[in-house]
Amino acid sequence: MNQNENERMCRVGPGTAMGSALRRRWVAACLSTDVSEPGGAPVRIKLLGEWFVVFRDSEGVVGMLDERCPHRGASLAFGRNEDCGLRCLWHGWKIGVDGVLQETPNIADDHFRQRVKARSYDVVELGGFVWAHLAGGERPPLPDYQWAHVPDEHRLIVAADLDSNFTQPLEGLADSSHVGILHSNLVAKMSGGAKDLSALRRDQAPRLLVEPTDFGFHYAALRKVDEPTGGHHVRITAYAAPLLFFIAPGGQAFMSVPQDDTHSRFYNIFWSATEPLSDGPARQFRLDMFGLHREQLAEYGMLPEHPLVGDLGRRNHFTQDRAGMRAGSTFSGLNGLTSEDAAMTASMGDLYDRAAEHLVPADLAVIRLRRILRSIADEDADRPARMTTETSRITAAEAVLGPNADWHALVPHHNVVGRAVAADDAATDDEQLV
Ligand code: FES
Ligand SMILES: [Fe+2]
Repeated sequence: MNQNENERMCRVGPGTAMGSALRRRWVAACLSTDVSEPGGAPVRIKLLGEWFVVFRDSEGVVGMLDERCPHRGASLAFGRNEDCGLRCLWHGWKIGVDGVLQETPNIADDHFRQRVKARSYDVVELGGFVWAHLAGGERPPLPDYQWAHVPDEHRLIVAADLDSNFTQPLEGLADSSHVGILHSNLVAKMSGGAKDLSALRRDQAPRLLVEPTDFGFHYAALRKVDEPTGGHHVRITAYAAPLLFFIAPGGQAFMSVPQDDTHSRFYNIFWSATEPLSDGPARQFRLDMFGLHREQLAEYGMLPEHPLVGDLGRRNHFTQDRAGMRAGSTFSGLNGLTSEDAAMTASMGDLYDRAAEHLVPADLAVIRLRRILRSIADEDADRPARMTTETSRITAAEAVLGPNADWHALVPHHNVVGRAVAADDAATDDEQLV
């Protein structure tokens, strides 16, 4: 991929190809809990290279405006959240969630306020997120994913900020072969018992089958199992383009949202149909397994509200434990899955130049991911892609199957729109593998 192609895929500011395509889709602006109180403090967010404020008005309606006041540009994040509108502190202009100027006290002419409007954006709240459709106009289908269909207490969403372009964490999610290596300590811990991940470690070169679907693609990573039956361990990952991955065994999804060209907000989304995740051991288990405790994120400058959203993790080398590595007690020396992934993706650089890499068959899903991202950047603005799979039916799955079983039975609702490609015939793909 040459530098132009790479930048076209990665850059997200106003007027860029990818930035425009993302503005035509629902993009997660923040969490509902970031603006939980009606009349509470507005939050300042950066999305696709621009600054906005999101606030919940006194009636409980969520709004999103440009951060800068339309009068003389003071930040509305300082504003007073009053009766049905946000009042700029500087000269008191009061603005509703629809951008209408309700009061302009420093202007004698009361008609003035009908001639000016603040820029406001279409938002919906669904599944714990405030989603924004920045381009305006006709709404795309709602981001009605599986996790929106459980009670709020059955959902756990943890945000972490990363110093890298949004594509880099996405590529990590498309990359099954690193799981048994980089995360080998975790995999070893999870071997045996109900959540047996040992196949991931035994077979580090899984056979990958990638199949295009109307929502992006799904891929099956097939690993041999030792049993005499000769079956396979199957992990199915679903990529819901452009920013979301559903990862096996299910009940978890990960989303990489571009704040700007070199920073992304990574959402870890967990849900359960059967048990609450707001408290108790099920929540604890996920926070432990993924290394998502606040102290861990703070240590690497990854807490969203951390003032240092900067390269703290890179400067302290993610506190890598070399002594433990020498002693054999840890493979990576890093404290938890999230820091392992974050260290790898951040160490690729702010905006990774893909010209010098060497892709191999195990990178097939990464190649497919890039191809879809590039086609999204290239799409005709008047004819965005249509989808027939219901958003809420997109899922990941994991199982051990017999030699003759078809893995598609694990994802019956995915609408496949093309031929499956195996890593072995990837050489016929138009991307260069070594
Ligand atoms: S800058 Fe906001 S009212 Fe003047
Ligand atoms: Fe990982």
